[in-house]
Order: sequence, then C-alpha cells, then structure tokens
Amino acid sequence: MGYHGYEQIMADLYDDDYAVARTPSGDVDFYVEAAKNANGPVIEWGCGTGRILVPTAQAGVSIVGVDQSVAMLEKVHAKLAGTSLDARVVEGDMRTSRVEGEFALATVPFRAIAHLETVEDQLAAFANVARHLRPGGQFIVDFFNPRLDLLGAAWGPRLGIDRADGRGGRVRRYEKAEPNVAQQINRLTFRWELEDKHGQVEEQEASFNMRWYYRFELEHLLVRSGFVVNTVWGDFRGRPFEDGCPEIIVVSHRK
Ligand SMILES: C[S@@+](CC[C@H](N)C(=O)[O-])C[C@H]1O[C@@H](n2cnc3c(N)ncnc32)[C@H](O)[C@@H]1O
Repeated sequence: MGYHGYEQIMADLYDDDYAVARTPSGDVDFYVEAAKNANGPVIEWGCGTGRILVPTAQAGVSIVGVDQSVAMLEKVHAKLAGTSLDARVVEGDMRTSRVEGEFALATVPFRAIAHLETVEDQLAAFANVARHLRPGGQFIVDFFNPRLDLLGAAWGPRLGIDRADGRGGRVRRYEKAEPNVAQQINRLTFRWELEDKHGQVEEQEASFNMRWYYRFELEHLLVRSGFVVNTVWGDFRGRPFEDGCPEIIVVSHRK
C-alpha cells in the first residue's frame, strides 16, 4: 500500500516529473470547476503535493487535503505558506481517518485508488469518503480506462522521463511494469538517474503496486458504499465513457 519506504524521492520529484510526464489532460480544470460548483467545502483524499488542491483553493474554494505521505504534505505546506488561502492538509489514511467537517464534494483524483489493493480496502475507503459528505454530497473518482492490449504484458525498463533538473543537470526515469492479471495489479518500478551538472550520477529506485479497475467494478464498489452513480465520463472534457476513451471518471452522490 502507498509509498512506504520511498515516499521522499516520490515527493521530491513529483511536481517536476509530472510537469513533463503524461497527466490526465484537463484534470486540474475539471476538478477546480467541480469544486466551484459544489457550493460548499471540498475534501481531496490522496492530495499528494497539492497539484489540484492549490489551484482549487486559489479559485476561492475551501478545501481540506488528506494524504498518508508526510513528505507529500510538506510540499503542500510550502505552497500554502504565506498565503491566505482557505486550505489545509491532514496526514491520514483514506480508509480510516476521520477529518473534522461535513463536505459538499469529495474527490480522489489522479488514480490514487490504485493504492487500494483489496476489496476490503476499497470498501473501507469509499465508506469513509461517504461518512464525510453531507447527504446528497458529491463524490468524484477517476482511473485510467484499462487497455487490455497493454495491461496483460510485462514491459520495460524503458525511458519514461528525460528532463532538465533546473540546476544544470538531468533527471531520467526508467519505468518497468510486471502485471498480475488475476489480481489486477501492476508492479511498477521506477529507477531514476539523477545526473548533476558535473556528470555525476546518483540512482534511486522505487517500486509500488497499482491495482487497476474496470468501469462496472467501480460502479459496484460505489453502490456497495452508499453512493448513487450519476455520470461516467471518458475524459476530463466531457466525452462519454466509450471504447478508446482515456479515463473512467465516475461522478456519484451520497444517498
Ligand atoms: C498519484 S498521487 C495523486 C496526488 C494528487 N491527488 C494529484 O492529483 O496529483 C496518489 C496519492 O495518494 C496517496 N495515498 C495513497 N494511499 C493512500 C491512503 N490510503 N490514504 C491517503 N492517501 C493515500 C499517496 O501518498 C499519493 O500522494
């Protein structure tokens, strides 16, 4: 589960890596818009470095972010420091942590549910999300639309990221995937080569499991957790869920 043991390297490189790596197109604007329309406070479970939380707060929305990684939350603290934004973050686990407040919208953006490996974890997390919503409150969760032609086979290591480090050096991230199709789990390994401006290379490695989901599986989990499914989008620009779409974005509300 989560980023145990290597969360510092993930947190340190996250914003710069995902400035060049593919993130779901339009997801920040989509979540900011949903937050503005929620007419009440928002809670983001698995907020990471605040990639979505900070622009949401900048749009004038009151938001609480929860993450189990202290290293990630430190990045958010640094971004919020000295601002008067109505945002705060809490160290916690989306399966179990209780956060003060009753929320109009809950989100779990950017495939954070990949870290919930078992049905028990998934149901615990969704029930906990529901617990924090006011009756009728909205829940939006996203995942990538699983490509059956790609997911079944191991691949890598291959160069996924090759970027300047901003200090005259370079960062290269090699990525490897080892799927277990029966468990719907991809074991991902990232190996970074951090090359400084003198050509000295330091290597760092991190491995973690990503549990993948199918559209109807997500719908079933949500219904079992007390939600009514409203819409399933296929991307962040309003495409319906259909063959070939990149995302599964499920918009639901608490009964
Ligand atoms: C892919 S990142 C997404 C971060 C952010 N939402 C974004 O859009 O950039 C997933 C985040 O979920 C967090 N996470 C994983 N499992 C968690 C759990 N059980 N409870 C809380 N946070 C969790 C990780 O620490 C990580 O910061």
